[in-house]
Amino acid sequence: MPNRVLIQNAHVVLPTGIKQVDVLIEGQKILGIDPPQNSPADEVIDATGLHLLPGVIDDQVHFREPGLEHKEDLHTGSLACAKGGITTFLEMPNTNPTTTTHEALEDKLHRASQKSVVNYGFYIGATGDNVDVLQQVTRTPGIKIFIGSSTGNLLVDEQEALERIFAETTLPICAHCEDETTVRANRDRLEGGKCIQDHSKIRDHAAALVATKRAIDLSIRHRHPFHVLHVSTADEVDFLKDRPEWVTAEACPHHLFFNIDDYDRLGTKIQMNPSIKTSADNQRIWEGLQQGIIEVIATDHAPHTLEEKAKPYPQSPSGLPAVENSLALMLDAVHRGVCSLEQVVSWMCAAPAKVWNIANKGAIKEGLDADLVLVDLKKSSTIRDADQLTKTGWSPWNGQTLTGSPVQTLVMGETVYRDGKVDSAKRGHEALYSR
Ligand code: DOR
Repeated sequence: MPNRVLIQNAHVVLPTGIKQVDVLIEGQKILGIDPPQNSPADEVIDATGLHLLPGVIDDQVHFREPGLEHKEDLHTGSLACAKGGITTFLEMPNTNPTTTTHEALEDKLHRASQKSVVNYGFYIGATGDNVDVLQQVTRTPGIKIFIGSSTGNLLVDEQEALERIFAETTLPICAHCEDETTVRANRDRLEGGKCIQDHSKIRDHAAALVATKRAIDLSIRHRHPFHVLHVSTADEVDFLKDRPEWVTAEACPHHLFFNIDDYDRLGTKIQMNPSIKTSADNQRIWEGLQQGIIEVIATDHAPHTLEEKAKPYPQSPSGLPAVENSLALMLDAVHRGVCSLEQVVSWMCAAPAKVWNIANKGAIKEGLDADLVLVDLKKSSTIRDADQLTKTGWSPWNGQTLTGSPVQTLVMGETVYRDGKVDSAKRGHEALYSR
């Protein structure tokens, strides 16, 4: 008989609202919401004073394995996820080798099956000439295109290649949208960039908007499901108001919580692609979420070592670690009255499951996978570099005190994180995509 776990007395964030009910898990699945009194269980978790959420699905992380494991690997990245309440990650193809072939995809799936403590999926990367691969792969959430160069060399900028990818494939597509021509012209004008402030002038508002418009034009003409990754500008939010229903969008914590005024304090630690923008952009991205123009929050966790980040701009790499802080940052936003807990669950759990066709996850419902996170909305904690589980050992939010914290994470019915400690035995499974 599979193991039964009973979670008692939690305030449970159900699709119908927040209710204080018990939740019974059997094996890897949620067996019952509000089960009969005295249901037998092998383990009882007393969650008095806590809220129970579906596990977070982070649809954009970069875990660096294979090839750049000195920054992160699938084990350390997954440990950081477990601590942060993330029970499923979808990882990007800009590793070394890139995930642009069947073999590279199978290799990552095999590695994760040996090492990941949370559930996983891997995007297949588009190049200018791998449409045949994009047409045939199945064990993937979808296709990633870099319409705009970033870490790695996966840029696909030629119109003809983009037309083929949108016309001749059926998997959902997501893209990094920053217009290469605009970025290059800005870079030349600023002589390559002299200081971190120049990063937001090189990768400016126009670069983001031009590329997002271009990608959505392709998506509309080919009626192809499309997800705009990391929206960074108010202009894109305004433009996305009139998108068709098969276009979705994502925001990241760094574009909600940082802006160019933070460069003086944080320097290249917050160097990101797309670049961080102004406080007005922060505000409009929040509004975009509130208005349903942006449906998903994901981290774009992109670890680089502190040593690498300390190089003078523009030698410093773009990217920052975030998986172990994203849910806590959003719970703190709930505490400050910026959004509701139900909205956080919609943005971080339900919406990514819907966008990426993950039928068994993203909600607390009978029959779904028992991927769950218990959070303490009153717990105050300070983010410290020394406590970070990401291999890079730092956080751009170092020193920030937040109210609200994940305290226990269950993956497929088993506890992987509790009260500061991660059980590093492998628990994760491949996420399944229903088409
Ligand atoms: O700043 C970034 N760094 N943006 C990306 O999209 C990629 C990432 C990385 O992999 O380092």
